[in-house]
Amino acid sequence: MGIEKTQEVIDLLEKNGQEHIIKFMQTLNDEERERLEDQILTIDFHQILELYDNTKKKFEIKESKIEAIQYFDKEKISSSKKSQLDSLGEKIITSQKYAVVTMAGGQGTRLEHTGPKGTFKLDVYGKGKYLFEILIDNLKEANKKYGVIIPWYIMTSKENYAETKNFLEKHSFFGYDKNHVILFQQGELPLIDKNGKLLIGKNKLIKLASDGNGGTFTSLRTSGALADMKERGIEWVFIGGVDNVLLKMADTTLLGLAIEQNVQIASKSIVKANPQEKVGVFCKMNGHPKVIEYTELPEKMAEEIDSNGELKYGESHIMCNLFTIEAIEKISKETLIYHQALKKNSYLDEYGKEINPQDANSYKFEAFIFDAFPLFDDIAILRGKREFDFAPVKNKEGVDSPRTAKELYEKFWN
Ligand code: UTP
Repeated sequence: MGIEKTQEVIDLLEKNGQEHIIKFMQTLNDEERERLEDQILTIDFHQILELYDNTKKKFEIKESKIEAIQYFDKEKISSSKKSQLDSLGEKIITSQKYAVVTMAGGQGTRLEHTGPKGTFKLDVYGKGKYLFEILIDNLKEANKKYGVIIPWYIMTSKENYAETKNFLEKHSFFGYDKNHVILFQQGELPLIDKNGKLLIGKNKLIKLASDGNGGTFTSLRTSGALADMKERGIEWVFIGGVDNVLLKMADTTLLGLAIEQNVQIASKSIVKANPQEKVGVFCKMNGHPKVIEYTELPEKMAEEIDSNGELKYGESHIMCNLFTIEAIEKISKETLIYHQALKKNSYLDEYGKEINPQDANSYKFEAFIFDAFPLFDDIAILRGKREFDFAPVKNKEGVDSPRTAKELYEKFWN
C-alpha cells in the first residue's frame, strides 16, 4: 500500500511538472513523507494549472457594457420612508431571523500586528479596545435595542483559529453569550511560484494560504455554519470585515431596503473620497451588479463625473454586505474567480534548505466577497456616510491606520 501510494504521488507530481517535490521527498523520513503524500493526494492539480494560467492573463474591461449603479442615499430618504424601512428591518431582527458573520481570516500583513487582526488593541479612550471588542459592543447595542441575541459567526483562517478562540475565551467573549458565538474556518489554496511550482513550507508540507474573503460562502456551508443558521431559522445574514471600527452590523434601514426592493443581496456604500482612493467601486456590468477593484479601474472611468457633478463610479464597497440565506447557499455552490497577488514567501528548496527571497516570488490566490454580486440580477445599495460608517484599520501608519481609526471612532462616539 505504502509503495503504491508513493508511486501514485510520484506519477501525479511528474504529470504536473512538480518534480522538485519528488526530489524533496528523498530528504524526508517515512512519517514526514507519508504526511506529505496524503496532502498531495488532496490537491486539485487541475485547479492549480488553471490558476497559474490565469496569472498570465490581463484583466480587461469592455467599457461599453458598464453603467453606474443605482443607490439610495440614507441622508436623503424622507423620515417617513426611513421609518417604514426601519420597521421592515426590525421585524426580521426581533423575530430572530438575523445573523452576523465576521470575516476574520485575513493576514493583516499591512498592519504588521502579530496575531489575528481582531486581537489588535486600538488606543481609544486611554484604556484601549480590541477590534473584536468593538464589534461585540456594536452587537450588544443591537441586542439591547431589539431584545434578542444575534448569533455571531466568526470566520478564521486555519492558521489563526486556535489563537482567535483562545483570545475570545480568555476575555469571556467580552460578555457576549458564548452559545451564540460560532467560530468556523475558511479554506486554503496552495501558493505557487512564478513558474507554477508548488512551494514547500517549513512544516515540510505544501505551503497553503487562506483563499480570500470570497471563501466565506463555501466555508459557511462546508463547516456546518450554514446548516446551523437554518436550524435557528435565520433568513438574513450580514457579512462584514473585522477591521472597520465604525461598522454597523445591524442597520435596519439597509435590511428594510433589501426587503422592500425584493432583492437577495444588499450593501452599504460610501462616496469615494477622490478618484485615486484605493477602494473598489460599484457598477453594473452586463446588467449585473459588480465591484471593480481600484487596481482594475481604468483612470478615465475613475474620473468620470455624472450629471449631479459626482463621480459616476463613486459608490465604494466597504465590506458591509447583506445576503439572504438562499443567496449564501447559491453562492456557496459556485466557484468565484481568484485574484492573484504576487507576494514574498519563504520556502524549503528541493534539498530542504530554507530560502528567504529578497523579492516577491510567489502567487497567493484569493476570492473576493464582491465577486459573488454578478450572480444576481440586482442589489440594493444604501449610501452611508464616511464619518458614521467607515474607519478601517489597514495600514500601520498613514491613511486607514490605527491613528485615523481612533480619531474617527472617538469623534463618532463623542
Ligand atoms: P483585507 O483584504 O483588507 O486583508 O481583508 P487583511 O488580511 O485584513 O490585510 P492585509 O491585506 O494582509 O494587510 C478584508 C477583510 O476580509 C478578511 C479580513 O480579515 C478582513 O476582515 N479576510 C481576508 C478573510 O477573512 N480571509 C481572507 O483570506 C482574507
